[in-house]
Amino acid sequence: MQAFRITGGKPLHGAVRISGTKNLISKLMVASTLAEGESTFTNVPLHLGETEITSDIIQSLGAGIRGADDGTMLIHTPKFATSQVPERFALLNRIPILLIGPLLHRTGKAEVPIPGGDKIGARPVDFHINALKKMGARIDLKRHFYHCEADGLKGAKIGLNFPSVGATENIIIAATLAKGTTIIDNAAVEPEIIELVKYLQKMGAIISIETNRRIIIEGVGSLHGAEHHIMPDRIEAASFACAAVASKGDVFIEDADQSAMLTFLNTMRRAGGDFDILDGGIRFYYKGKLKATAIETNVHPGFMTDWQQPWVLMMTQAEGLSVVHETVYENRFGYVSELRKMGAHIELYNSCLGGSECRFTTLSNPHSAVIFGPTKLKGADINIPDLRAGFVYLIAAALAQGQSTITGIHHVERGYEHIEKKLKGLGVDIERIEA
Ligand code: EPU
Repeated sequence: MQAFRITGGKPLHGAVRISGTKNLISKLMVASTLAEGESTFTNVPLHLGETEITSDIIQSLGAGIRGADDGTMLIHTPKFATSQVPERFALLNRIPILLIGPLLHRTGKAEVPIPGGDKIGARPVDFHINALKKMGARIDLKRHFYHCEADGLKGAKIGLNFPSVGATENIIIAATLAKGTTIIDNAAVEPEIIELVKYLQKMGAIISIETNRRIIIEGVGSLHGAEHHIMPDRIEAASFACAAVASKGDVFIEDADQSAMLTFLNTMRRAGGDFDILDGGIRFYYKGKLKATAIETNVHPGFMTDWQQPWVLMMTQAEGLSVVHETVYENRFGYVSELRKMGAHIELYNSCLGGSECRFTTLSNPHSAVIFGPTKLKGADINIPDLRAGFVYLIAAALAQGQSTITGIHHVERGYEHIEKKLKGLGVDIERIEA
């Protein structure tokens, strides 16, 4: 088993170029299968676990995929060789469920395993399944597989109980070739979704984004291949930003995009960490004492749930009592116990702290955290349970006095490309070992 050994205690300094975003490339690869023709993607994080898993899934269905060293990917699916996503892809990531639309349009059938991904809550897919049923799909769940059939999907009016990213993407992808118009109310409008819409429009789709979270898709007869640039990963950018400031360092994050990070940047400034928006990226640096903050995670344009973990780590270095209320996932503080082992003082609560009541108010899940700072961190042996926790442990280890050994590194490599090289480039003493 591979592990990272990190000897911490130094501020992060230098420059790091962030990769194209994991949560877009996988969706565009799925959307490309709606057409027979070839699509070209640039700025693709080709060495990311998530891209590799998604490539394997789509190739198993008959797609041809070629990647080049400059981050270009050529992908085409002249024909689906099968309607079944093989069982070996069950629970690996959240992508197979998004293939129901393309498979139904092109083969009339789809058999996909239940989705996996990080264990950060129940993560049901009821919104996806109910919407596809409304669009005319017949769907049964048998032995971990969704068995779906349709004689052509049709447009429908769908209201989501919560602005789910995956459900919005699934409906948009399925609706582009459906007969008639589909309306999604309470849709997610994350920048990655706007990018998906832009790519589909290039392919020939007609999709409008209205006010009040309404998205309207007018079904078209066919789509063709198109080119698209993968936007820089705003989760990776924020993760490195927190790492830079928490370590009292100074890091230029090449390709970080201000417009997709407005809320993060405002929150960073309130906390006393500073930044300069420069040509080609954003420089983040420690300016003096960090102040405690109260934040609530939310859907876009709110503070992303995927920024929560590095933020909590940064708050362990702030003066006073910080509060984080997680409102997107009911169980996203699993990583805190290992941070406590390293010396962080963090308490978890089932109640909604610091603001409004969320949908988890009646559940007995710890979804609010109070962080007491500043605390000195010390090295420890830790095992990574999920992707975002993984990055936090690496950074905690980089901040800590002494040595840490971190196992379970495949989780972090699913979402952070070349992580070891990037951290080394910022002066972190990190080596890969056999544990
Ligand atoms: N939900 C339902 N029913 C559904 C779908 C969602 O109840 O049918 C609930 C979920 O349980 C959750 C909330 O709605 O409580 C939000 O889930 P959403 O569907 O928005 O999340 P997702 O599409 O599964 C994507 C990202 C996540 C990111 C979230 C929120 C991908 C592959 N994953 O997940 O990314 O946290 O949106 O922005 O795009 C990560 O990158 O580490 C990660 C977990």
